[in-house]
Amino acid sequence: MVSAMAGQLQDKVALITGAGRGIGVGIANVLVERGAIVAVCDLDGAAAQETANAIIAGGGKAISGTVDVTDPDSVDHFADRAISELGGIDICVPNAGVIGGRGFHERKDFTKEDWDITFAVNVQGMTNTTDAVKEHMKERESGKIVIIASHGGRKPRGVGDKGRGNSQHPYLVSKAAAIQYTHLLAMELGSYSINVNAVCPGRLWTAMWEAIALNHKELNPAFAEMTPYEIFIDQIKATMPLGRPQTPEDIGKTVAFLASDDASEITGQAINVNGGAAFD
Ligand SMILES: NC(=O)c1ccc[n+]([C@@H]2O[C@H](COP(=O)([O-])OP(=O)(O)OC[C@H]3O[C@@H](n4cnc5c(N)ncnc54)[C@H](O)[C@@H]3O)[C@@H](O)[C@H]2O)c1
Repeated sequence: MVSAMAGQLQDKVALITGAGRGIGVGIANVLVERGAIVAVCDLDGAAAQETANAIIAGGGKAISGTVDVTDPDSVDHFADRAISELGGIDICVPNAGVIGGRGFHERKDFTKEDWDITFAVNVQGMTNTTDAVKEHMKERESGKIVIIASHGGRKPRGVGDKGRGNSQHPYLVSKAAAIQYTHLLAMELGSYSINVNAVCPGRLWTAMWEAIALNHKELNPAFAEMTPYEIFIDQIKATMPLGRPQTPEDIGKTVAFLASDDASEITGQAINVNGGAAFD
């Protein structure tokens, strides 16, 4: 159970997409612990409602909705609801994301469907979400946008045996786009006193990484006898100086910082929360 308490985000309203499971739930819980009121949405509206119910049970304030971020009307409608029911939106966290199309984990190479769905959700879903709050934040001359990108968007990496395997290309390119969009939006909105930053998570054991681990089994014979979780840990030990997985709450804490007054002079930055797996 999550309990609400006074904190650095007291009474700030945060809209979070993809908050039905995984990282989005951790972000919502940490922001509530710091005093925020959250509007949580997901393609899976029942899951978003569970997130909100748990927060309300802990004494926090939350509303939830079914939102498909690929549909601008769907995001706009939920943002309008948050503004009218909660009095405004101070913080926007485009977090919803996909690793690829249906059956991604079975493929060595990407398909057109992987490009289409990954760009529809991870890129246009992100811009639809920021578009839904942008004019509102500009009118108020204040706001914090924290985009969930990935350290995978920073530099190329091979994902299979000897780098043979292209299945993650659409995802990794979409996350590079998220980082570039963070820079561009920070330039666009800076004069309205709106901060735009990104968090680049490393590796977290969510449904997304489970699919990646299964895909690694397809791409690399060395993983054939390992369980998906063993592959996840193996990759962490091989790449991260801190040698442990990140948690949804780790990501939430950095989002909370970037959404707070403590970060008022930080904008256009993409911050790795990745156990040191990459330094830039
Ligand atoms: N798990 C990791 O290791 C990791 C690493 C780096 C970045 N990320 C990023 O963090 C974010 C969250 O990832 P996660 O690991 O929690 O994934 P997840 O698959 O567990 O959760 C993603 C959520 O997004 C929702 N979603 C998918 N398509 C949607 C749509 N069209 N509209 C609204 N909601 C939609 C899903 O229903 C799901 O609840 C993603 O942007 C992901 O790329 C994750």
